[in-house]
Amino acid sequence: MSKVLVVYHSRSGNTAKMAEAVAEGAKNGGADVVLKTVDEAALEDLAAADGIVFGAPTYFGTLSGEMKSFIDKSVRIRGKLESKVGAAFTSSGSLSGGNETTLISIIEGMLIHGMIIVGDPIETGGHYGAVAVGSPDAEALMACRKLGDRVAKFAKIIASA
Ligand SMILES: Cc1cc2nc3c(=O)[nH]c(=O)nc-3n(C[C@H](O)[C@H](O)[C@H](O)COP(=O)(O)O)c2cc1C
Repeated sequence: MSKVLVVYHSRSGNTAKMAEAVAEGAKNGGADVVLKTVDEAALEDLAAADGIVFGAPTYFGTLSGEMKSFIDKSVRIRGKLESKVGAAFTSSGSLSGGNETTLISIIEGMLIHGMIIVGDPIETGGHYGAVAVGSPDAEALMACRKLGDRVAKFAKIIASA
């Protein structure tokens, strides 16, 4: 069984709903799932996971400062996240308000750690991860569950390799 960690920041609850759906998808995909807010999560949680999913609201076209600070702190465990599976999700206020640039910014941090990134499969229409505009609707929640499921499956393959 793979271990999937979902870490998120959410001020008004939209990204939190997405995080719960990602965690649900990962659980359905067979993973042992830990869901934490960015305030609760520790660097040890990252090191212990096979798959890591970060979610943040889009602030000024990128990830919120709270999530960026956590990623910045992860420099202390540089090398320990290599070959773990990673993915990202975000909630933005508007459709073209920078949600894709937020996903790319999160993924950049993961790539710098040498992680293996899982995108959003074609059936759910996204490219770089799961997005919602405001509170996630049924389609966005499905994309989140699907993303969690994919992370769980790939994390299992990587963990047993
Ligand atoms: C400081 C701040 C900056 C924001 N910047 C953007 C932005 O650049 N683009 C956008 O679409 N929405 C922006 N928003 C709106 C949030 O991304 C949106 O309300 C999101 O759903 C909040 O997620 P949460 O409920 O998980 O906190 C901003 C909100 C705040 C508080």
